[in-house]
Amino acid sequence: NTVISEAKSNGVTKGGARIVVDGDVEALSPTDLSEVLFEGTKESHDRAENCQFVKDFLRGRIQRELFKRGTAALYFVYSAMEEEIEKNRDHPHIAPIYFPTELHRRDALARDLEYFYGENWDSEISLTAGTKPYVDRIHEVGETDPLLLVAHSYTRYMGDLSGGQILKKVAQRALKLPTTGEGLNFYQFEGIHNHSGFKQLYRSRMNELELDVEMRQRIVDESNRAFGFNMMVFTELEEIGSTIKEDIQDAGPGHSHAEIMER
Ligand code: HEM
Repeated sequence: NTVISEAKSNGVTKGGARIVVDGDVEALSPTDLSEVLFEGTKESHDRAENCQFVKDFLRGRIQRELFKRGTAALYFVYSAMEEEIEKNRDHPHIAPIYFPTELHRRDALARDLEYFYGENWDSEISLTAGTKPYVDRIHEVGETDPLLLVAHSYTRYMGDLSGGQILKKVAQRALKLPTTGEGLNFYQFEGIHNHSGFKQLYRSRMNELELDVEMRQRIVDESNRAFGFNMMVFTELEEIGSTIKEDIQDAGPGHSHAEIMER
């Protein structure tokens, strides 16, 4: 698989911000989209990591019912995102970051929902008020401004390949899910064996997009919006959680930020 071997051949020298692509050393410029996005969404990321639902989740305080509903919300989000990415797969700003085999999560989420809700899972779930604005926005940008799908893909897939791996372990332990991975397919990227290598490849593809300053800024703004939509989803789940009575078993000390892997 060329994509994976390309990813594996990428490397990063820490601190020096130089990436090695196919043996060439390229300077990573502060105006590169990957850097502008990383810097431009730091505050949003901090806010997302520190909202109550996410903090509780990280501590292993997650109700099974909420995890199921969260998985359903993600199913609606990724279905919308991947439908729009598919439609725009030949668009010059989407084609370079089009990695359906490696990244797309809709089918993995459908398998998780089948595990949690049974074979009639699709009649058991519905798009909630907290998720609908996110889904609507994805369709809107897919139809009117596909460039901004870059922001939506970045916000979710790069996050899933980073903090998502911690969430998988926490959920497995807290909900006592089978070690065979049922219910957690969403977190398991079967086509990616080196997460940080793939993230480097994805960043280098984003950096090769032909963009002017204004376009880059619009992508950063849209990514911050996407973070906001994710927080709306979390807030709604937190509200539902406070109305459901379910004992949470102590799942141990959870994870500290310091322990969470490098970029
Ligand atoms: C990157 C952790 C929540 C989106 C990262 C990284 C870590 C991390 C360790 C890699 C280091 C870095 O680049 O700074 C977490 C934890 C979370 C969390 C522990 C809470 C459970 C989120 C959420 C989103 C998100 C809710 C958005 C939906 C991202 C993105 C990146 C990232 C886009 C890539 C940053 C870049 O390299 O440009 N996260 N994250 N994260 N996370 Fe999160």
